[in-house]
Amino acid sequence: MVDIKKSYLNTQSELSMKGAGYYSKKTIGAKIAIDSLQHLITDAFSKISKSNFLRFADFGSADGGTSQELWYNLIKSIRAGGDQRPVEIIYTDLASNDFSTLFRTMQGMGENVNLAYQEEFENVYVHACGTGFHRQLVTSGTLSLGFSATAMHYVSEKPCQILDHVHMVGASKLEKEKFKRQALKDWEAILCARANELKPGGRFICVNFGIDENGRYLGNTGGNSMFESFHRHWRDHLDNGMITKEEFISATFPQHYRTIEEFSRPFLGHDCLANQIGLKLNKCFTMLTKCPYQQQFEENKNTLTPTEFAKEFIPTIRSWSETVFRSAIKGRTRQQTDHIIESFYQNYENEVARNPSVHSMDYVHIVMEIERI
Ligand SMILES: C[S@@+](CC[C@H](N)C(=O)[O-])C[C@H]1O[C@@H](n2cnc3c(N)ncnc32)[C@H](O)[C@@H]1O
Repeated sequence: MVDIKKSYLNTQSELSMKGAGYYSKKTIGAKIAIDSLQHLITDAFSKISKSNFLRFADFGSADGGTSQELWYNLIKSIRAGGDQRPVEIIYTDLASNDFSTLFRTMQGMGENVNLAYQEEFENVYVHACGTGFHRQLVTSGTLSLGFSATAMHYVSEKPCQILDHVHMVGASKLEKEKFKRQALKDWEAILCARANELKPGGRFICVNFGIDENGRYLGNTGGNSMFESFHRHWRDHLDNGMITKEEFISATFPQHYRTIEEFSRPFLGHDCLANQIGLKLNKCFTMLTKCPYQQQFEENKNTLTPTEFAKEFIPTIRSWSETVFRSAIKGRTRQQTDHIIESFYQNYENEVARNPSVHSMDYVHIVMEIERI
């Protein structure tokens, strides 16, 4: 049995996104992926049974910027349809998350003032929860609609360090198997928690990074593989004596990319977990979102230089990966650590500038609609 409380404390620093709004400013692709699912959310909402108030939750929301328009549009359509029920929306993330930026954004004190739905619509209440989503987070049977984007590939604890790579996609067979087992255990915990929280007829829309039918995953859809670049540049730092062997190994992403088969497993067979806890899988499909930075480069090759593209591209990768490499560095001054990190990303940037066309961070998601029966 995983001690979830203890393992979160150990891995939280590696899980965090860069704060102060950096995450959502630099991750346009995540927002495009979320926005493309507006119809799914609106459709799921229309099927939810009546209740006195509406409770929504956004699990693993980061600073809330990437899903703000989705929630704005949903609440707008609810009010436009004459539904004046109170709406409570709970943003959940780890305790280390930058909730302060999130609250400011929703109150219209940050970016995208025109999407500050809390200000625009009556009876809308924004809350936050800093406990991990592997546990039940709201009172049983009170959640109308749960949503989670690009968050549940984080495992609650690393089952092992990966010795000769940074991510499970490049791990040895044995290491991969350990990550797979951990991810299945976590997925079951997530499903049990949501089953408890949801009202009968409530829905959970879950958009997770994963591996699709063609073996594609984030930054690995043809052309250069992003995780191979991470590995290569981190390895160069080791070979050049900039980092120690221990620091090299510690940069193991606490992530697992599940396949459709892995996501569906708890829903298969008569005695499956889903049947026992009252969940039904209505939809499950893969979705590819093209890298907006690469697309912009392709469309503006006459005006955008490879160096400019590389300078735009690296921050989107940095927004979610930097904390993994930074927390792998042990017992050094801030200045030394900054130097290691800056030169690591600079080397990657130089690689991109040398051959820009092969670099992209296409998103590969597995989308699911789960119903509480
Ligand atoms: C890549 S960001 C995605 C943010 C946003 N949902 C989006 O799609 O743009 C992943 C988020 O999941 C959060 N996260 C990771 N593990 C978590 C856990 N166990 N419980 C809650 N949030 C978690 C991270 O802190 C981070 O904010």
